[in-house]
Amino acid sequence: MSDEFAKTLLDWQKQFGRQTLPWQSTGDAYKTWLSEVMLQQTQVATVMSYYARFLERFPTVANLAAAPEEEVMHLWQGLGYYSRARNLHACAKQVVERFGGQFPRNVDELETLPGIGRSTAGAIASLSYGVQASILDGNVKRVFCRYFGIEGFPEQSAIKKNLWAIADAEVPVQEPGRYNQALMDLGATVCTPKSPRCGHCPLMSGCKALQQGMTQHLPTPKPKKERPSWYFLTLLLEDSLGRFLLQEQ
Ligand code: ADE
Repeated sequence: MSDEFAKTLLDWQKQFGRQTLPWQSTGDAYKTWLSEVMLQQTQVATVMSYYARFLERFPTVANLAAAPEEEVMHLWQGLGYYSRARNLHACAKQVVERFGGQFPRNVDELETLPGIGRSTAGAIASLSYGVQASILDGNVKRVFCRYFGIEGFPEQSAIKKNLWAIADAEVPVQEPGRYNQALMDLGATVCTPKSPRCGHCPLMSGCKALQQGMTQHLPTPKPKKERPSWYFLTLLLEDSLGRFLLQEQ
């Protein structure tokens, strides 16, 4: 859409983005995939040592595919969300069997693999292959909701659809991987859930939430479930002999 949005982020990333994460700029889809799956629900600081141990034990996707399931689960112990580890192993096997040990470049093909959703597919395609693919993880949703002033719970399907349309429209042809990294970095270090550092944000001049004093209220939190109310009317009568009549409406 606006080249300005991507350009601003790319300029910012050069100076302020995270440059030294071990999985960055490897050009190796296996490493990108491994780190992205680990980072899905876990902080960077925790992922570091697990990532290093996995790569040491399984230097290639073929090594991982050939490993016994127990060993993969054992190495994953402590990272939590264990379905990720089972999917990781299943995915490695499929990459070997269906794609000859090479992760596909195409987002639609990547999405057919276990544990790879649309955003992870976009991250792998853009970060390791330079494909113009978009991402939309929690950090990115927050940046978009605030910058574009999007109200409504981001997991609601109409809102999510809108956010993906924005993600697709903004991802640049040039350096889509570094742009996606910039979005994630901005969300993790500046456009944080609480007390965002708007004074340090490269996007502050165009940010709808900032202009409207809405940074605290966007993204819109999950709507509280309405508690169902039940009304009962019961008639209880006792006569002089101690007998009861119970009538429920
Ligand atoms: N979270 C998800 N993907 C990430 C990445 N590539 N770098 C840092 N944090 C991330």
